[in-house]
Amino acid sequence: MNRDKIQSFLTPDDVLKVVDGYPHISFEYGKILYNFIIEHKLSRVLELGFSHGVSSCYAGAAVKCLGQGSVVTIDRLETVAYRPGLENFVSELGLDDIVIPIYESQTYNWRLKEFLRMEPRPVFDLIFIDGAHMFEPDALAFLLSERMLRPGGWFIFDDINWSISTSVTAQKNPSSLILTDQELKLKQVREVIDVVVRSHPNIASWHEDPRWGYARKREESESSLSEQTLARLVDMSLESREHAVKIFPLEIQVEKGLRPTAWKAMINRGVRNNVVIRQKKDGNQ
Ligand SMILES: C[S@@+](CC[C@H](N)C(=O)[O-])C[C@H]1O[C@@H](n2cnc3c(N)ncnc32)[C@H](O)[C@@H]1O
Repeated sequence: MNRDKIQSFLTPDDVLKVVDGYPHISFEYGKILYNFIIEHKLSRVLELGFSHGVSSCYAGAAVKCLGQGSVVTIDRLETVAYRPGLENFVSELGLDDIVIPIYESQTYNWRLKEFLRMEPRPVFDLIFIDGAHMFEPDALAFLLSERMLRPGGWFIFDDINWSISTSVTAQKNPSSLILTDQELKLKQVREVIDVVVRSHPNIASWHEDPRWGYARKREESESSLSEQTLARLVDMSLESREHAVKIFPLEIQVEKGLRPTAWKAMINRGVRNNVVIRQKKDGNQ
C-alpha cells in the first residue's frame, strides 16, 4: 500500500483490505460509521468494545480524513493477545497516532469513572457503544460517558435488537444458564435505550436503522479535548498495555473467516493457556 496515501486519506475499502475476515463490524456498517464521522465532523471518538479493532480502524480512517482527532477505545486485557489484533491492524493502516487502545481488567465503566476524575475531563464528539450489550453495564456506560459527550455530540448503539436467546455464543456462556426466560429474550440494548437514553434530559433526538441506534445530545456551548488531556490518555493506554501484556503474555492466534462459535472457542483456548502460564509462574515464585 502507498504510504503517502495512508498518511493523508484512507477509504473504507483500504480498511477492508486489512481487516477482512475478522469479527465484528461488517463492511456495510464500517462504511456507515466512516461516513457518519466524516459527515458530522466527529473527530474525537470514544469506542466501548474493540475486540480485534475492526470498527476502530474504520473510525480511525475517518478521523484521519478529517485531518485531526483520535479514537480512544476500551476493551478487556485479553484483547492485547489477539493475533492479529487491534495493534496489528492499526499499524498496518498507519493509524497508530490516532487509535488509543485502553486495556481494562474488568469493565470499561471502571475506566470511564477514571476519565470523570481527570481534570480537565476528556470530551468526545461521538461515543460508540459496542461492548457488553447487556442492560447492567451498558446503562451505566451511557450514564457515565454522557457526561463526556460534547453538546450536540452523538451516541451510536450497536445491536439494538440483540438478545441472548438469538446468540449461540452468548447462550453457551455459563452465566446465561441461571437467567430467566424473560432475561434471555430481552433485547437488552433496546431496554437501555427505552428506559434510560430516550428519556434522558440531555438527549434531544433519536433515530435508528435495523442494527444501530443514534442519539444526539442537546446543543450548548462547546468544550475541548486539551493537548494535556490527550497526553494523559496516551499514558493511560501505555500503562494499561503494560499490565495487559503481563497478564496475557501468550499470543492468541486467530484465523481469518471463522464462524462466531469457532472464533469464540479459539479465543477461550488462548485465554485458558494464558491462565495456565500465569498459574505456573505464580507457583514458581
Ligand atoms: C462485539 S465486540 C466489539 C466489536 C468491535 N466494536 C467491532 O465492531 O469491530 C464486543 C467487545 O466488548 C468487550 N466487552 C464486553 N463487555 C465489556 C466490558 N464490560 N468492559 C470492557 N469490554 C467489554 C468484549 O471483550 C468484546 O471484545
